[in-house]
Amino acid sequence: MRLFIIKLGGSAISDKSKPLSYREGWVRGLGEVLVRHYKLGSRFILIHGGGSFAHPLALAYGLSRYRDHEQLIGVSLTSSILNYLSMRLTNTLASIGLPIYPIRTGSIYTIVNGKPQLLIEPTHIIELMSRGVVPMLHGDVVPSDSGFSIISGDDLILDLSIKLRPLAAVFLTDVPGILDGNGNVIREFSRTSIINERVTGHIDVTGGLMRKVGIALELSNYVKTYLCAIWDLASINKILNGEEPINCTKFIPY
Ligand SMILES: Nc1ncnc2c1ncn2[C@@H]1O[C@H](COP(=O)(O)OP(=O)(O)O)[C@@H](O)[C@H]1O
Ligand SMILES: [Mg+2]
Repeated sequence: MRLFIIKLGGSAISDKSKPLSYREGWVRGLGEVLVRHYKLGSRFILIHGGGSFAHPLALAYGLSRYRDHEQLIGVSLTSSILNYLSMRLTNTLASIGLPIYPIRTGSIYTIVNGKPQLLIEPTHIIELMSRGVVPMLHGDVVPSDSGFSIISGDDLILDLSIKLRPLAAVFLTDVPGILDGNGNVIREFSRTSIINERVTGHIDVTGGLMRKVGIALELSNYVKTYLCAIWDLASINKILNGEEPINCTKFIPY
């Protein structure tokens, strides 16, 4: 199976500085590229972030650290808004021909000792794809040994890619790659590269760019790993053809 696992970052599908802003145009553009490759036989697992839908709620209820029942309404509302965002993505992508099959992450993942644990057999996800659908998960608030914990879309792409070994794992954001101090894309990012995290004012409860880069570097030990802009359709198309992208950051293993 020509499998690709693609994470639609919260920054790619929403404007993280504006609550509940959905970037339908960018999602549709990506969907059109995916549909073309889907028709040629490629298969996808999509993962989306919470963006300006979930992060403000998770922050308001302090869900990065679960303490007591006072936060359960926050757990409920965060799950609800993520379902809503998933529904919007499903509607956009299905309406242009991509048969998205949304899966609620909190029903199939738990966190033990800080590590994501998949509660179903990975073969179940393969089974879904063999029926033609495109499974889509999302960052979520999931049961954990400390009550509830947040699992980020970045944690999910790492875990699923190690288990399912796609041809490539692709992080999509609103910027064309990891940027250096001058704003230029770092085309090959390795352990010794320097991260210049810019101040964005975005609300993000999952650790920002440093954490993402650490995950991407770890993932690059297992599969080809890229970070691209969701709107860089030419580069995404290249990756799906098995070629190197025109732009984007490629992560180089330790
Ligand atoms: N040096 C940098 N290179 C790339 N992105 C950066 C950098 N500094 C800050 N960012 C910001 O990091 C964001 C991506 O991280 P994050 O908000 O966690 O994305 P996502 O919501 O996709 O998980 C981008 O929106 C970008 O504005
Ligand atoms: Mg993030």
